[in-house]
Amino acid sequence: MRLAIRDLSVGFAQPRGAPPREVLRRIDAELGPGEVLGIVGESGSGKSVLALAVIGLLPRTARARGRVEMDGTDLLPLGDGAMSRIRGRRIGMIFQEPMTALNPAMRVGAQIGEGLRLHRGMGRAEARAEALRLLDRVRIDRAAERLDAFPHELSGGQRQRVGIAIALAPEPELLIADEPTTALDVTVQAELLDILDELVSERALSLILVSHDLGVIARLAERCLVLWRGAAVETGPTARLLADPRHDHTRALIDALPRRTRATLPRSADG
Ligand SMILES: Nc1ncnc2c1ncn2[C@@H]1O[C@H](COP(=O)(O)OP(=O)(O)OP(=O)(O)O)[C@@H](O)[C@H]1O
Ligand SMILES: [Mg+2]
Repeated sequence: MRLAIRDLSVGFAQPRGAPPREVLRRIDAELGPGEVLGIVGESGSGKSVLALAVIGLLPRTARARGRVEMDGTDLLPLGDGAMSRIRGRRIGMIFQEPMTALNPAMRVGAQIGEGLRLHRGMGRAEARAEALRLLDRVRIDRAAERLDAFPHELSGGQRQRVGIAIALAPEPELLIADEPTTALDVTVQAELLDILDELVSERALSLILVSHDLGVIARLAERCLVLWRGAAVETGPTARLLADPRHDHTRALIDALPRRTRATLPRSADG
């Protein structure tokens, strides 16, 4: 799968015929199989709007221009039906708050199984066995018991593991993770980032990783795009950005990192 974002702008309609407010301006980005693209920027810079534009989940008041090409096909003009089929099958999404993606009234195994039955044509028993395998893959403890649990019986970290398992079930080619570990403690965060990293290389998955935390981005993304007030102010190899930031906002993101994290990053990021 090859994704190409070309000259993408997004505005929101304003009341009483006022001109739309642009929140994303002329973004270009590319992503190939087995690659991770980091999207980093302060709160309100447009990271989630960019993620939603790619996955076709912008609110109705949004107006997008430009192209979001998946293997050469522009996704922007697709209708709801065509886009929801692509979303189910080829693009998976992991949200910041895992409850967003989970159905509180449905057991975990059944929720993972839905994608398996719908998109991979599995029967009930086969789907249950594969759901267990996926829960093992995201290293949830006592996976067999968790199949029959409801989301509220799980911790935040376990819910996010289930969220990843659900996103993986249809074997998507592209995964979009919007602040997937922000709500979690640092140990769980590190383990989930490792799992995402493994999945990218195992399955030649393409990953768009969104975070306000350049430390999270630096762990996984070989390339990143720094958003500031809706514009890509800097883009390139993450190591280069860290070692030689060319925009004040990139420098501010580096300065926001804890000292200890900065010390583990490429040289001169600390200076
Ligand atoms: N539904 C909407 N209607 C109008 N404006 C919106 C809507 N959603 C987002 N915006 C605006 O778009 C801009 C970018 O928002 P976005 O949610 O992408 O920020 P973000 O970088 O994801 O921030 P955070 O780190 O806080 O999640 C903001 O100015 C926001 O107010
Ligand atoms: Mg956001």
